[in-house]
Amino acid sequence: MLKDLFRKKNLAQHLASIDRQDHKLVRKLNWLDLTALGIGAIIGTGIFVLTGTAAAGGANHIGAGPALSLSFLITGFACALAAFCYAEFASMMPISGSAYTYSYAAFGEIIAWIMGWCLVLEYAIGNIAVAIGWSGYFVDLLRGFNIHLPGWMVTDYVTAFTRLEYGSTTTTIIQAAPHLFGIPVVINFPAVLINLLVTVVLVYGIKESSRVNIFFVALKLLMVFLFIFVGIAYVKPEHWGHDWNTFAPNGFNGVMTGAALIFFAYIGFDAISTASEETINPEKEIPRGIITSLIAVTILYVVVTVILTGMVDYRTLNVPEPVSFALRSVGADTVAGLISAGAVISMTSVLIVFGLGQPRIFYAMSRDGLLPKFMGKIHPRHKTPYVATIVTGVFVAFFSGFVDIGQAAELTNIGTLIAFILVSIGVLVKRYTDPNLPRPFRVKGIHFVAISSALCSGYIAYSLPSITWKMFWIWLIIGLALYFSYGYRKSRLKAENEGK
Ligand code: ALA
Repeated sequence: MLKDLFRKKNLAQHLASIDRQDHKLVRKLNWLDLTALGIGAIIGTGIFVLTGTAAAGGANHIGAGPALSLSFLITGFACALAAFCYAEFASMMPISGSAYTYSYAAFGEIIAWIMGWCLVLEYAIGNIAVAIGWSGYFVDLLRGFNIHLPGWMVTDYVTAFTRLEYGSTTTTIIQAAPHLFGIPVVINFPAVLINLLVTVVLVYGIKESSRVNIFFVALKLLMVFLFIFVGIAYVKPEHWGHDWNTFAPNGFNGVMTGAALIFFAYIGFDAISTASEETINPEKEIPRGIITSLIAVTILYVVVTVILTGMVDYRTLNVPEPVSFALRSVGADTVAGLISAGAVISMTSVLIVFGLGQPRIFYAMSRDGLLPKFMGKIHPRHKTPYVATIVTGVFVAFFSGFVDIGQAAELTNIGTLIAFILVSIGVLVKRYTDPNLPRPFRVKGIHFVAISSALCSGYIAYSLPSITWKMFWIWLIIGLALYFSYGYRKSRLKAENEGK
């Protein structure tokens, strides 16, 4: 039994399963598509929404203060180490499934399953958080046009119990909500609708999705630069503090708590590796796409946070739209409105990339027999894993109507950090177990890079709240129950090993 749990699937076996498919994915993406996919996945809710909470401190958090830029540097460094490990794995195994596929090769089936299960947290739960952030900015934008949606239509139960109805000082959202059989109806409708819309685009085709994405990415970069160029004129250095205690009011602990939350802002570069089977010359292009997009956003993030915390007192930033808020505070209302529109667009492109990633992991898992066959079905005309795309889209749309953004983001972070740790250890293990496998991209000083990467990601995960860890353990137990009741028995590798 123990041996079965750690059965490994090597590259030749992976390639053979691809050949067995009736309808394969088609290689259409190039380097530009990939970098756009990366930036599309990275810049979004993290920088536009969570930055405020990370700086000022939310209900249960200790804020980083003006030292938020330091949090971004630390997390950027940890992600860069993980990015190198991802890049080597992707160049070694340019096939669909990302970290899931890598773990199958490095550690064996049960760890691969756990990895796949963690990636659901990253992509699907991640999209729940992003859609909620999207909804917040969208509602703000509508208000700019004097369209006011009632609170019960644009929020979740957790938030509804604590907030007042918009424009009221006495009525809570719960009191104002319509009741069905005595139960108040509170649903974040914009979040649900945007997820359904994105699902339709994704079923239609990857090249089309990628084209839509490049357009969004160009627009979002424009907005970020606009903020930098306008905001820089309003910076008052006294807002940064004058010594370590005023720069980092909660010390290193605050900096790390901030780092653990804004880790969300970096998630996405690894999504590039899920498109390996649809990339032309993936051995070279995937590592290039991953590293370029990560370097670009790290620079942008640090510059944005230095300016943001220099424009206003960090304590005022605990709002749903901190970037627009800072601009409004200094009187730049028109630019603030433009940035709100830009944020909505940015988050749409994150939804697209994550919406691309999740079904491709399900596709790979289904191909391996760990999930039912229908999850791996490719659309005969559009060539997309349409069943997995629709299943994911409906699941995400449903929960984005009811979940609170903070919990969704932290759960996403923990799943992704565990994935980073496993990839980092895995790439090192592969150097010993499969030293001769061609590695078009080979990390120099792999021992240092892989071990520091695992330690840095581990430390960031350790800085997450204990409630997030509890939710993670529950998630893991559900995942293992599913594996033992289905995947373990139906595994394709099991059948192959038994000569069936
Ligand atoms: N990095 C992505 C975002 O911040 C998940 O929206």
